[in-house]
Amino acid sequence: MKEPVISIQEVCFRYPDQQRYALENISFDIMKGEWLAIVGHNGSGKSTLAKMLNGLHYPEKGQVQIGDYLLEEKNVWEIRKRLGMVFQNPDNQFVGTTVQDDVAFGLENNGIPHSIMIERVQRSLQKVGMQDFLNQEPHHLSGGQKQRVAIAGVIALQPDIILLDESTSMLDPRGREEVLETVRELNKEQELTVISITHDLEEAAKADRIIVLNQGSLYKEGTPEEIFQLDSELVELGLDVPFSVKLSQGLRSKGLQLTQNHLTEEELVKELWTSNFKM
Ligand SMILES: Nc1ncnc2c1ncn2[C@@H]1O[C@H](COP(=O)(O)OP(=O)(O)O)[C@@H](O)[C@H]1O
Ligand SMILES: [Mg+2]
Repeated sequence: MKEPVISIQEVCFRYPDQQRYALENISFDIMKGEWLAIVGHNGSGKSTLAKMLNGLHYPEKGQVQIGDYLLEEKNVWEIRKRLGMVFQNPDNQFVGTTVQDDVAFGLENNGIPHSIMIERVQRSLQKVGMQDFLNQEPHHLSGGQKQRVAIAGVIALQPDIILLDESTSMLDPRGREEVLETVRELNKEQELTVISITHDLEEAAKADRIIVLNQGSLYKEGTPEEIFQLDSELVELGLDVPFSVKLSQGLRSKGLQLTQNHLTEEELVKELWTSNFKM
């Protein structure tokens, strides 16, 4: 059994002067090495939760444990070393004038000696496949490349957890796939725990587990297969069901006996090719 790296217990949070809770009695654990997707309609509390995990908000009730640290003001710098964030807009994240300066920035801020820094910058850029862009200026990069550099900046600090808040939502399909592939490799090879916040259910379909937030509450938690069985409930929650799931549902409603609603087009195509259907 894996151990939790984050434990969220009965957390409530309200923004100042607000009646409504942005997070209401949220409890769940995140396990070491897991890829957890958090999905939910706009305003469901995803970014509020992300900011809380980064010590920008504190629970009004309940508690959050991250590694050995309880989330409170005196631990926030330790927590930020362990949990790195990648945000939505690739253009707002650059601080350096070149790719390598940008990745070095966080290390410099943490007082890492120069000789170690150079090596870590190179290694981090290698891990995201951007080692050939060391001296490039960020504005010459594609959106996907920029997000990979942002990820390099995070992993250079050697965190245990990486949190992506809609980090692929401004990218084209190719950039999105590049970034997800990079994260997948880090997750598999280095047991980096990944929390990906997304409204893209196709992205969430690849996670180990999905948490659905709705109006500040935890609506449902389960494997992608379990979550996609919610079918029309997901649509009612304002979520976009993947095309392959919709197509599976449509085919079944026409009497085609598919074994399940497939989460990816590849799986659906495979079943369509290999089965002898009776209508
Ligand atoms: N700075 C803020 N002040 C007041 N209310 C906020 C603030 N930021 C977000 N909210 C409210 O908190 C709720 C959750 O927002 P957010 O966490 O940004 O949702 P999501 O990321 O899922 O779209 C929404 O009702 C939103 O209007
Ligand atoms: Mg958000």
